Amino acid sequence: MSRIAIVGGGIMGLGIGWYLAREGADVTVFDRGRAGRAASWVAGGMLAPHAEAEPGEERLLPLLIEGHKQWPAFVEALEEAAGVSLDYRTDGTLVVALDADDARKFRFWYEYLRGMGQPVEWLSGYEVRKREPHLSREAVAAIWSGHDYHVDNRRVVEALKRVFVQAGGALREETPVREIVIEGGRVRGVRLDEGVFEAETVVLAAGAWSREIEGLPPDIRPPVRPVRGQVVILQMPPEAPLLHHVVWCMDAYLVPRSNGQLLIGATVEEMGFDATPTAGGVFHLLRGAWELLPAVYDLPLTEIAVGFRPTSRDDAPILGPTPVEGLVMATGHHRNGILLAPLTADVVSRFVLTGELDPLAQPFTLARFLSQPA
Ligand code: GLY
Repeated sequence: MSRIAIVGGGIMGLGIGWYLAREGADVTVFDRGRAGRAASWVAGGMLAPHAEAEPGEERLLPLLIEGHKQWPAFVEALEEAAGVSLDYRTDGTLVVALDADDARKFRFWYEYLRGMGQPVEWLSGYEVRKREPHLSREAVAAIWSGHDYHVDNRRVVEALKRVFVQAGGALREETPVREIVIEGGRVRGVRLDEGVFEAETVVLAAGAWSREIEGLPPDIRPPVRPVRGQVVILQMPPEAPLLHHVVWCMDAYLVPRSNGQLLIGATVEEMGFDATPTAGGVFHLLRGAWELLPAVYDLPLTEIAVGFRPTSRDDAPILGPTPVEGLVMATGHHRNGILLAPLTADVVSRFVLTGELDPLAQPFTLARFLSQPA
């Protein structure tokens, strides 16, 4: 069987790699650092096609909903193969208004989601606090999205690393791909510091760095840029967590893990690849979290992390074939990388193995950008 090189060992590269290795493919994943330690590590792990849907994203919504449907089977298979729990939680999500102004905005959003047929409910402040008693007395209303779940994304990427290698995949960490080698309109492999690694198929899954890799003709470089997200992690007592659901407010979202971690995310900033956390970013997140859940004030702060969302020009992923034979893309997932990881692994691995792209993914190939300048 022909050789496959995957550029990028994040949740996309590892997921695609696992699906291919399970089918007996000869597949190698290259990561410039430690696999799974870039955006996949900093994410909140929200699986929230309903709560995160935004006006203008109508075309993307069916993909997000299908992505969400693939999670239960993905969790079952991955937990069984890796022998670990992924802390997949189906408690649901609240989007909480802290004043009348927020309530008006969220009511508009709620009507939009209902209009799109989404299963959301409107709760009073009293009903919100019945579900989450530690929330601020200022909570006046909320959207309840009972089908929006979450998972511990760090456990997912660690598990994927393990099962990918168990299934026979080769993982090359600290191995930057310097160039995608293309000759006569088809890929020949990837250039490493030690020379060319020959491959018949190259999957570009390098997240926010997908556009930076040399060798791609200008019109094939995916229009993907880094959108910085800073997050703060606090530690709750695991036996007495302050929160059970994912909760959003205007300025932040809070994601509780079963081990007591409470992730507060995330800034959305156009700062290129500047990975320095800022006082302003952290202040904004902590203030938002404190206004929503005053008891965070006393929690130990254990980590501040910075990640780069791979954001395409229309915020939707870029999946499948390119005009270069053998070059396949899996990038540009913006805010939806964790949610779309099983679906991406499924459609991209099937495309690599069969040459057929699932109709669901067909609107999301690079072709949609090719007539427009990057
Ligand atoms: N999906 C959450 C974020 O991008 O911050």
